Amino acid sequence: MNIIIFGPPGAGKGTQAKKIKEQFNLNHISTGDLLRSAIENKSEIGLKAEGFIREGKLVPDEIIMEIITKELAEGKNFSGFLLDGFPRNINQAEMLEETLRRLNKKIDHVINLEASEETIIERICGRRICLKCGKIYHIKFSPPTVDNKCDNCGESLTHRDDDKEETIKKRLKVFQEQTVPVFDYYRKKNLLRIIDGNSSESVVFNGILEVLQ
Ligand code: AP5
Ligand code: MG
Repeated sequence: MNIIIFGPPGAGKGTQAKKIKEQFNLNHISTGDLLRSAIENKSEIGLKAEGFIREGKLVPDEIIMEIITKELAEGKNFSGFLLDGFPRNINQAEMLEETLRRLNKKIDHVINLEASEETIIERICGRRICLKCGKIYHIKFSPPTVDNKCDNCGESLTHRDDDKEETIKKRLKVFQEQTVPVFDYYRKKNLLRIIDGNSSESVVFNGILEVLQ
């Protein structure tokens, strides 16, 4: 099964993706996570992408496609892939379609995780992440056992660079202008599955399972 998980910044894509990938043995491909680790490793892609992410802008499509094409060609031991944070504009959606055609693969479901602005702001403001293992926390909804330390690897938790109030506003604007049109693209293909993302993690996950099973 091949899935795209969609939704505004902070809707809970990464959180749900980790549960979905375990349930269905999928290769979780998060362009945001891959870019953040490229920045951490100071790789060429990381150096090119850093400024765009810090300013809340989309990273240029060529850089994103380079990452995605490589990831999609891998994943031999999985039962499919789960795209998180990609595609983010119509051009990326069209390039994905072309890439999948070449690989003889197709998308089965596009989950659209809806969340109100109030939910988004509360979730992003309380988010903490572990840059080492990628685990996502929330100071109120899913705090670590030991204050500010990752449960998995003991690393200190951090704020994401783009989780500042003025950058969040920019990311939401970019989402409305460039990413929302992608919904219609998949609606027309009959692939869009709408999920209310405002409830607790487990309620949202059950809603997703109902749609996928
Ligand atoms: P990316 O990393 O994709 O960020 P995003 O889309 O803005 O989404 P987030 O990761 O912020 O939110 P999420 O929906 O994953 O929420 P999470 O699960 O963490 O992209 C970052 C940047 O990279 C972009 O701005 C762009 O510059 C660049 N980029 C990436 N992909 C690109 C592309 N394709 N093209 C061009 N540029 C690209 O949850 C949020 C918080 O809420 C957490 O604290 C979590 O614990 C909590 N939470 C989650 N679910 C619940 C729940 N149900 N109840 C209570 N709390 C919850
Ligand atoms: Mg995410």
